[in-house]
Amino acid sequence: MSAAELVAAAERLAARAHAPYSGVRVGAVAEDARGILHGGVNVESGSLGLTLCAERAALARAVADGAAPLVAVGVGRADGAPIVPCGACRQLLHELAPAARVAHRAGDGEVRERAVAELLPEPFSLPPA
Ligand code: THU
Repeated sequence: MSAAELVAAAERLAARAHAPYSGVRVGAVAEDARGILHGGVNVESGSLGLTLCAERAALARAVADGAAPLVAVGVGRADGAPIVPCGACRQLLHELAPAARVAHRAGDGEVRERAVAELLPEPFSLPPA
């Protein structure tokens, strides 16, 4: 999928977000090598600290769906405003989708595509046991 298509799919999915506290509804789609999308939305908790971001929800969904490898991830807000993955999501992208292109709407409103290594240049890594 193109970067614009990935962001459009994420922005559509964001309508399903559970974001009663911030009002910021976010969607994310992870595309696997077969072209299948695995979606997630942000899920907020009244404790605030337990809030789950859309990107990590999408990555967890892809794992549960048995999808690997992931070739691209799109993220978007329901209101079409710019967004870029937060630090915690960058770490999980590094671990579960290291080769993925990450598509998002940048500050100028244009769709941009970044490499995970560009978003998180010095990642923490723990070798599998
Ligand atoms: N959020 C995401 O879903 N992804 C990000 O990368 C950044 C922030 C969500 C968390 C919270 O529900 C809302 O956006 C406002 O921070």
